[in-house]
Amino acid sequence: MTERSEEIKRHAPVVTRPDEGGLTTVVPLAPPRRLVDVTVDGEPVRVPEGSAILAACSGTPTLCYGDTLTPKNACRVCVVEVTGSRTLVPACSRRVEPGMEITTDSERVRHSRRLVLELLGSSTDLSTTPGAAEWSEEYGAWPERFGPRGEPSTDRDARHPGAHEATDGATAATVAQPAKVDNDLYVRDYGKCILCYKCVDACGEQWQNTFAIGVAGRGFDARISTEHAAPLPDSACVYCGNCIEVCPTGALSFKSEYDMRAAGTWDESRQTETTTICTYCGVGCNVTLHVQDNEIVKVGSPHDNPVTHGNLCVKGRFGFQHVQNRG
Ligand code: SF4
Ligand code: SF4
Ligand code: FES
Repeated sequence: MTERSEEIKRHAPVVTRPDEGGLTTVVPLAPPRRLVDVTVDGEPVRVPEGSAILAACSGTPTLCYGDTLTPKNACRVCVVEVTGSRTLVPACSRRVEPGMEITTDSERVRHSRRLVLELLGSSTDLSTTPGAAEWSEEYGAWPERFGPRGEPSTDRDARHPGAHEATDGATAATVAQPAKVDNDLYVRDYGKCILCYKCVDACGEQWQNTFAIGVAGRGFDARISTEHAAPLPDSACVYCGNCIEVCPTGALSFKSEYDMRAAGTWDESRQTETTTICTYCGVGCNVTLHVQDNEIVKVGSPHDNPVTHGNLCVKGRFGFQHVQNRG
């Protein structure tokens, strides 16, 4: 059993089933966990043993953390101070210990989060990253201090390690580039990519085992890529969309969402979410239908489902057009 599946098992929910007498039988899927006492900003908090600090600190910003993935520690926006620890620690992966004293809002923490948000904001389009605008305001992030954004690049996919050219010093280097629209199902807009690795892990050994995407390049030229930067239809991608499910920035999105945003018609305040069962096969995966103006605009999957953990196949994820074909 891998560390990740052990972690998921620890968080596995309790299942309730009606028994023959009509009563409810509780079937625990994991043994109960001991509680650990810690303090957060001076207040006592109890969390299950083995939890990450994040479980004790609601409201902590996160980007690369995924509730269905092994922590990657890539973004460091979640850092907190732990008494006795020389460095700030990532709340998404550092486990709680009895008596731990955690500080979430010291000047040191605020300074670090501000810098992370400034560096990301100066180089990446965070306009569709949930929470980014609020966090930037809260921590006083000022990405503009690095100068105006540099021109979008059209050759990032061709760059080799060591080929990074120095900027002119007057503009902030960015990952801005044209969106990759090479199929009818989903769009890769890597100008919004913060390189959190979540899509790579979801596509690879953590869930899908398709390995259609990986990290190419080094340093500032590092980017998510298919093999030899092939267009998605020519790559190993099986269009499960499990990478879209975990992407925290909107860099990966349904084509329907991408087109609606471009047309100015995407409006989450007018959308409903209905979780139902995929009808394509007997597995019975849960699908969450996002509906706007009586049309399905994208399909997600509940992360707390103990079987699928937010993952689907191409049929459940993208095979919804026939429902809307009302002739
Ligand atoms: S859609 Fe599925 S197979 Fe394709 S890149 Fe994303 S996770 Fe990998
Ligand atoms: S495309 Fe999304 S999930 Fe993948 S590394 Fe970039 S931000 Fe993360
Ligand atoms: S969310 Fe913790 S390091 Fe990114």
